[in-house]
Amino acid sequence: MTAYILSKAALNAYTRILAKKHPSLCINCVCPGYVKTDITYNTGVLTVDEGAQGPVRLALLPNGGPSGLFFSRLEESEF
Ligand SMILES: NC(=O)c1ccc[n+]([C@@H]2O[C@H](COP(=O)([O-])OP(=O)(O)OC[C@H]3O[C@@H](n4cnc5c(N)ncnc54)[C@H](OP(=O)(O)O)[C@@H]3O)[C@@H](O)[C@H]2O)c1
Repeated sequence: MTAYILSKAALNAYTRILAKKHPSLCINCVCPGYVKTDITYNTGVLTVDEGAQGPVRLALLPNGGPSGLFFSRLEESEF
């Protein structure tokens, strides 16, 4: 779990670095929520379709959309 937490902290930091370096791109990170997948041994409260909503919405952002942010599902959140 320690490695997992550190990997997420590194990913969040790298997101901000990349967003600063490439201001013309939308580069964000997102937590999908607690989803029924292999990693949670299917104990999550969200279906895979529900968990995918946040990442898919960010992937489909139009040009000029927000960048360098962290989202919790569909909402912008603090890092
Ligand atoms: N599920 C949650 O509640 C939850 C909550 C917060 C964040 N997340 C994050 O969401 C992301 C997806 O999680 P998930 O729930 O979909 O997990 P998952 O069911 O365990 O799926 C992980 C996926 O990553 C692939 N993968 C693992 N190691 C890989 C490697 N070395 N190279 C290429 N692909 C690799 C796996 O491929 P194979 O199937 O081929 O092994 C699988 O498709 C993860 O970053 C996870 O930390 C999930």
